[in-house]
Amino acid sequence: MNILVTGGAGFIGSHTLVELYRAGHTAVVVDNLSNANREALNRVAEIIGLQEPIPFHHMDIRDRKGLEYVMQKSHFDACIHFAGLKAVGESVAKPWEYYENNIGGTLVLLDVLRHNGCKNIIFSSSATVYGDPAQIPITEECPKGHCTNPYGQTKSMLEEIMRDMQHADKEWNVVLLRYFNPIGAHPSGRIGEDPKGIPNNLMPYVTQVAVGKLKELGVFGNDYDTPDGTGVRDYIHVVDLARGHVKALQAIERNCGLAIYNLGTGHGYSVLDMVKAFEHANGIKIPYSIKPRRAGDIATCYSNPAKAERELGWHAEYDLDDMCRDAWNWQKNNPEGYGEDNDTEQ
Ligand code: NAD
Ligand code: UFG
Repeated sequence: MNILVTGGAGFIGSHTLVELYRAGHTAVVVDNLSNANREALNRVAEIIGLQEPIPFHHMDIRDRKGLEYVMQKSHFDACIHFAGLKAVGESVAKPWEYYENNIGGTLVLLDVLRHNGCKNIIFSSSATVYGDPAQIPITEECPKGHCTNPYGQTKSMLEEIMRDMQHADKEWNVVLLRYFNPIGAHPSGRIGEDPKGIPNNLMPYVTQVAVGKLKELGVFGNDYDTPDGTGVRDYIHVVDLARGHVKALQAIERNCGLAIYNLGTGHGYSVLDMVKAFEHANGIKIPYSIKPRRAGDIATCYSNPAKAERELGWHAEYDLDDMCRDAWNWQKNNPEGYGEDNDTEQ
């Protein structure tokens, strides 16, 4: 299939491109590089041994004319929609920017897709839509909860928008993938997570402590109702997550209509488990200190991924050791990530 990949230069998008090409698909990437670097796409081409660069449009998904042009230039069988802003704290400070980018952008994208006859979409949703989950492990039947931040609201609202569109027009196939906590990097160490500024998420913070860019990890709270008092999450290797998208394309080929899947491992690990796992996998000590809880955090969040196994034939294959090893392999080989991106070409 030929796939339109929005946000394809980003962390999950770049890893998904590798798996798409490996599975025999081709892709065209649209990304405004607001949180990514063109170098990621060069490295994707290098990993898969492509002679030509990955087709890329440096473009915003809110640019309707630009998207129309892209759609008219090629035929697309499906869209994988990663593009969006994702920093929880920033979304609290800049709600309008998050609603406008994530919801405004997706509305333009959906409209251009349908007017050009491409009614197949895979959407990057998140475990955040469950809020403080009503049950653990979380199945897809678990009711959506109250999201404590605008970022989470955009995911929840976009799910509803796509659900309603698919309900009204059965030509649509919509796969909502609810990611748990993607970490790690491609085992080659050539692509990985490259957060701008101080990382918000646990694993990039840990790797930056390991590489000496940050002094120590702050553990946000040790008084949660969990075995060691620190927050428990379902960490999943980004390559496993990427492969979930290839499986979701097969669901689209089977005309799945609306389908929702958790992509997680089904295992919960605490912050201190993660520190220990990283130290064990890489032989590097991670200094840490206990800090107050972070606003909006919940105690425990992990998936029941059985539906994805049953219906997509997908399950996570990498374990925590692999995730820690690959995250470090990326960081140590690329201490400055992809480096400066001075790319302004549109
Ligand atoms: P990322 O920031 O690395 O990738 C998102 C990409 O979208 C970036 O390359 C960015 O430049 C691009 N982008 C943003 N707004 C755009 C716009 N208006 N037009 C064009 N491009 C735009 O993030 P990621 O971790 O790869 O996440 C991908 C998707 O998965 C996001 O939608 C995110 O919300 C979702 N998600 C991520 C996580 C996670 O923990 N990483 C968890 C759940 C869901
Ligand atoms: N944590 C720390 N110190 C840090 C960073 C995180 O102790 O410096 C803790 C958090 O308190 C939490 C755990 O590590 O207990 C994981 O935190 P992350 O920020 O890595 O991940 P979250 O579970 O908070 O959220 C992430 C994404 C969301 C997404 C969600 C899906 O940031 O966008 O996973 O489960 F929705």
